[in-house]
Amino acid sequence: MLASELRKKFLEFFKSRGHTVVPSSSLIPDDPSVLLTTAGMQQFKKYYTGEADPIKDFGSKNTASIQKSFRTSDIDEVGDDSHLTFFEMLGNFSFGGYFKKEAIKLSKDFFDSINLGIDYVTVFEGDSDTPFDEESYKIWQSLGIKDVRKSGREDNFWGPTGAEGPCGPTTEVYINGIEIWNIVFNQYYKQKNRKLEKLKTPGVDTGMGLERLAMVSQGKKNIFETDLFAPYFELLPEELPERAKRIIIDHLRGSVFLIADGVRPSNKEAGYILRRILRRIFVYEHQNKMPAHILEGVLHDMAHKYGEFYPELARAGEIIRDEYREEREKFQKALDKGLRALGDAKKLTGQEAFNIYQSFGLSPEIIQELKPFSKDEFDKAKREHLSVSAKGAEKKFGGHGLLLDTGELKAANEEELKKVTRLHTATHLLQAALRKVLGEEVKQAGSDITAERTRFDFTFDRKLTDEEIKKVEGLVNLAVNKKYQVKMKEMALEDALKLGALHFFKEKYPQKVKVYSIGDLKADPPEIFSRELCGGPHVKNTSEIGQFKILKQEAVGAGLRRIRATVD
Ligand code: ALA
Repeated sequence: MLASELRKKFLEFFKSRGHTVVPSSSLIPDDPSVLLTTAGMQQFKKYYTGEADPIKDFGSKNTASIQKSFRTSDIDEVGDDSHLTFFEMLGNFSFGGYFKKEAIKLSKDFFDSINLGIDYVTVFEGDSDTPFDEESYKIWQSLGIKDVRKSGREDNFWGPTGAEGPCGPTTEVYINGIEIWNIVFNQYYKQKNRKLEKLKTPGVDTGMGLERLAMVSQGKKNIFETDLFAPYFELLPEELPERAKRIIIDHLRGSVFLIADGVRPSNKEAGYILRRILRRIFVYEHQNKMPAHILEGVLHDMAHKYGEFYPELARAGEIIRDEYREEREKFQKALDKGLRALGDAKKLTGQEAFNIYQSFGLSPEIIQELKPFSKDEFDKAKREHLSVSAKGAEKKFGGHGLLLDTGELKAANEEELKKVTRLHTATHLLQAALRKVLGEEVKQAGSDITAERTRFDFTFDRKLTDEEIKKVEGLVNLAVNKKYQVKMKEMALEDALKLGALHFFKEKYPQKVKVYSIGDLKADPPEIFSRELCGGPHVKNTSEIGQFKILKQEAVGAGLRRIRATVD
C-alpha cells in the first residue's frame, strides 16, 4: 500500500470507529518544556489531565491524528535502516473514552484491515514502582496472539520528555522484527516534583511511525526503499555513498517541515537544530561537488509532494527555498575559509580541528565529515583552551596545571576540588530552582565553576525581581536543609531523556550517559528535586553543600541571563 493510502486508511479506520480526526499540530510546541514536537499526544496533554473537555472541543472523547514529529535523540542513528529525525506519527487517543481492551482490539483490527500479521507483542513486566500489566497480556492472548513477551521499564513504560505530564505502561507491536506501534496506557501523571499521581480518568495514547508501517506494508528491507523516499533517491548522484544519500534525504525533509513551521537557522534551540541539519547537507553537497540545483530540486519536490497532505508546506514553498539558499550562502563563506585552513593533509590532529572550530565556526561534526580527527584529542585541546582562557588562570595557578578541569569545573588542588564539587551540586539545585520559580523555558546555556563561585548562564528574557532571586535562593537552601541524597545512575541516553533528565542540548552526548538525581529518593514514589545528565563530580548528600548565596545577576545577551553564586 502506498504511504498516502496508509494515511487515508488509518484515519478512515478510526473515524468510522468513533474518533474525531484532528490535524497535526505545529513542530514548534506550545509546551515550553520541549523544544520540538516529538509525539502525537503532545497537543492533547490537557485532555488527559482534565484541564480541557474533549467533548466540547472535538465532540468525542476519542481522537486520531497524523502528527509531524521531530526527534533529535535519533540524529546520530540516521543513515541506518530505520531511524529518522523527522517522521509522521499515526496515533489514536482516548481521554476516558476507552482503555486497554478496546485500544488493543483496535490495533489488532487495524492490522487485519490492511492484511498485516503481527509477529509478537510486548507488555510491561512490572517493577517495584508499577505492577505487571497482566490485563494487556491477557487481552492479546484472547485475540489469538500467541507470542506475548514481557519487557522492562526501558521499553515498556512511557513518560514525558519534559518535566511533567501523563505516563504509564505500554504495549508494543512488532512486525518483521521491528517495533511498529507503541500503545501507551496513561494511568498516572508525573508532577513537576516527579511524583506519580493516579489520573482520575485513564487515557490511551498511541504512536506508529508511518515510514515503518510503509516499510512492512510494502515488503521493503528499509524505510528508504518505500515510496515515501525512493523517488528522491533517484534525483541524487548515483555514486554518492548510501549513508550520505539517506542523511541528505532525511535532513532535507526535516528542514522543509521545520522551516514551514516557522523555525529559522540560528544558534539557539530549534534554530540550532535546523542549522545543524542544513549544514550537514551542505558539507555533503560540497564534498561531492554537486551543483546546487540538485538538492534544491529535491527540496522543491518534497515541499510539493508533502504539500498535498500538509498544506502549510505548499504555502511556504518560496520561503523554504529562500531560507535554504540564505543559510547555504552563510555556510559557504565559513566553509571556504575553513577549507583553506584545512590544507591538503588527509587527517587532522585534534588541535588542528579545534583551531578550525574556534576560528571558522564549523562544528566538530562537520569538520569530522571533511577530515577525520580524534575526538579525544579534540576534547583535550578544547579543555586546554578553556583552562588557559579562564580569567586569570595562568596567574592563579602559576602555570602548574590543574587537578581538575572538565571545561566546566576547575580546581588546582584537593581543597579546591572539594569546594567546586559542592558548588557543582549547588548548580544543579540552582537550575532546578530557577525552573520551579520562573518556569521551564529556563534552559542551561553554559556554566563555569571555580573554587570562588559558580557562574550559571540560562535562557530567560528579563531581569529577575528581588523576590524571585530570594525564592530561588530559598529553594536551593531548602534542598540543602532537607539533606537530599545525590545518586548517579548510568543508562542509555534515550532513557535518560524519557525520564526528563535536564541536558545541555548543544552538547553531543554518548549513547550511555550518567544521570544525577537529587531528592528524597527513598520516598514512595521518590521525590525528585533535580535530575540532570552530567559527568560529575558531586557531593553524596546536599547537606555537604552549606548555605547557598546568589551574589549577582546580569544580562549576557538577548534572552540570556547569568547568575553568580557561592556556598559557604
Ligand atoms: N507517545 C507514544 C510514543 O511516542 C505513543 O511512542
